[in-house]
Amino acid sequence: MLRFSAGVNRLLSEILVPASVAPPGSSRFVRACLRQPVDRTPVWFLRQAGRYMPEYMAVRKNHSLLEICRTPQVAAEVTITAAERLGVDAAIIFADLLLPFTPMGLDFEFVNGEGPVVHQPVRSLAHVEALRTDRAEELGYVAKAIEIVAKHFEAPRADGDTLGIIGFCGAPFTLASYMIEGGSSRNYIDTKKLMYASSLPGSPDAKAWPLLMEKLIAVLTEYAQQQVNAGADVIQVFDSWAGALSVSDYRDYCLAPTTELIKRIRAMGVPVIYFGVDTASLLPTFSETGADVLGLDWRVPLDEGWKLAGSGVAVQGNLDPITLFAPESVLEARVKEILALANKRPGHIFNLGHGIVPGTPVDNVIKVVELIKQHG
Ligand code: CP3
Repeated sequence: MLRFSAGVNRLLSEILVPASVAPPGSSRFVRACLRQPVDRTPVWFLRQAGRYMPEYMAVRKNHSLLEICRTPQVAAEVTITAAERLGVDAAIIFADLLLPFTPMGLDFEFVNGEGPVVHQPVRSLAHVEALRTDRAEELGYVAKAIEIVAKHFEAPRADGDTLGIIGFCGAPFTLASYMIEGGSSRNYIDTKKLMYASSLPGSPDAKAWPLLMEKLIAVLTEYAQQQVNAGADVIQVFDSWAGALSVSDYRDYCLAPTTELIKRIRAMGVPVIYFGVDTASLLPTFSETGADVLGLDWRVPLDEGWKLAGSGVAVQGNLDPITLFAPESVLEARVKEILALANKRPGHIFNLGHGIVPGTPVDNVIKVVELIKQHG
């Protein structure tokens, strides 16, 4: 495999796909993604529409999670309600990482309290060969929801800024891990077995991992393009579980497919946020993907994380979501600490290090938005 140093890789990705330039009048959120100066730090939250919010639970009473995702009017309403209730600077479309599995021919469901379950996990080359890549247009309901949200937030708000619209998809590794494990996992044994099989040319499954990566990239590219066409300003690529990988395994099996996906999305003219959890050791490698923004989790102090990511990227983060349960004085101290570590450098988007969890007091989330508006 041909390898370049981090600096050379970054330079190559800049030459191949020039960094996007924020169109005039774009939101402070989009400008921050591109490391352009902003009037104040933009803020939004991972999983800002979810079970912690009574408005969402009211909708959930009458619809399953997948029904909400697949009904554009309802998905748009949930997205809009959360963004307006919190007063944040960006709205992430209400959808789920696993939606592309259906048109790929992989059935799954959300089992209450257990998360997603794939009934026939992908474990062999034959399984990968059976996955379809020709039906991504069936995901068009997500783009329809984005259209409704983009139209709703078209006009500037009271402060003159327009809200950023975030589309998203999973990264190849994290989606593959759900396909292969059949659900959430602790040790990713079957995922890593399939990954490692690709290094053994004689193995019957040697071609499974590269083919799976190729198929995921094809479907995710089309899915992201639908979202951008519908009005998404930015695409976030969730590699939530990449932190389970050593730097060497990430480099050998995941860096190239992730870089390819991000390159294709950036070529659509939007910035890409690349997010994972427990990734401090991976940040220098993550910056080689060409992503405009890297998500930081709370385990790494923001300034150290930014140093590891490099000055050529923006960063998003990184309050511990559980700090939202802390007394106001602690919450305020932690928020101010993160702002101080960012030190007003262009390219910081305030967020959590991972998603809001059920039971989080909504008032504390709103308190954080107020603190950012005051001190950001
Ligand atoms: O405003 C928002 O951010 C919500 C939209 C959203 C959902 N899923 C809806 C959802 C987003 C951005 C996702 C992405 C997603 N889905 C990720 C990446 C984000 C992350 O947290 O790292 C992942 C790993 C998934 C897969 C998934 N979906 C899991 C593991 C679970 C169960 C875990 C849990 O929180 O219960 C889901 C279910 C899910 N997706 C819920 C929501 C609101 C909660 C269940 C429900 O409402 O019935």
